[in-house]
Amino acid sequence: VQRTFVMIKPDGVKRGLIGEIIARFERKGLKIKALKMKKLTREEAEKLYDIHKGKPFFEELINFVTSAPVVGMVLEGDEAVSVVRLMIGPTDGRKAPPGTIRGDFALSIGENVIHASDSPERAEYEIKVFFKDDEIIDW
Ligand code: GTP
Ligand code: MG
Repeated sequence: VQRTFVMIKPDGVKRGLIGEIIARFERKGLKIKALKMKKLTREEAEKLYDIHKGKPFFEELINFVTSAPVVGMVLEGDEAVSVVRLMIGPTDGRKAPPGTIRGDFALSIGENVIHASDSPERAEYEIKVFFKDDEIIDW
C-alpha cells in the first residue's frame, strides 16, 4: 500500500470541481487520509515545485498556484502514485485523453486543474510541505 499527494489547483477550485474530482478518487477505491483547503504562501508553493526552479514557466506557475485556494489530499491505495497519475492524465489538457481528469476538465498546459506526485519519494516530500503530521488520519 502506497500514499500519494494530490492537489486541486486554483482553477479547479474556482470552477467548482472539488466535489467532482474527489468523487472520482473515492469511487476508484482510494482512501482519503488527509484533506485540507488552504491558500499557499509563495514559500510553500516554491517548496512544492522546487524541481521546476529555473524553468521558464516557474514564475507563472508560482503566481498561479498562489492566486486562490487549493485543496490538498493524501490518498492511499495499492500503487497509488501511478494509479492517480493515470487518472489525472498528461500535463497538457489538450492532449490528455477523455476520461482522465485533465482530459475532461482542462484545455491548457499551465492551468490544468490538478497536481499529483510523480514518485513515492516526491509524495512523502510534498505531503510534508502541505500537511502537519497530526492532520493525517490513521484509519
Ligand atoms: P504536476 O502534477 O502539477 O506536477 O504536473 P505534471 O507532473 O504533469 O507536470 P510538470 O511537473 O512537468 O509541471 C508542473 C506544472 O507546471 C504543470 O502541471 C503545469 O501547471 C506547469 N507547467 C508545466 N509546463 C508548463 C509550460 O510549458 N507552461 C506553463 N505555463 N506551465 C507549465
Ligand atoms: Mg510534476
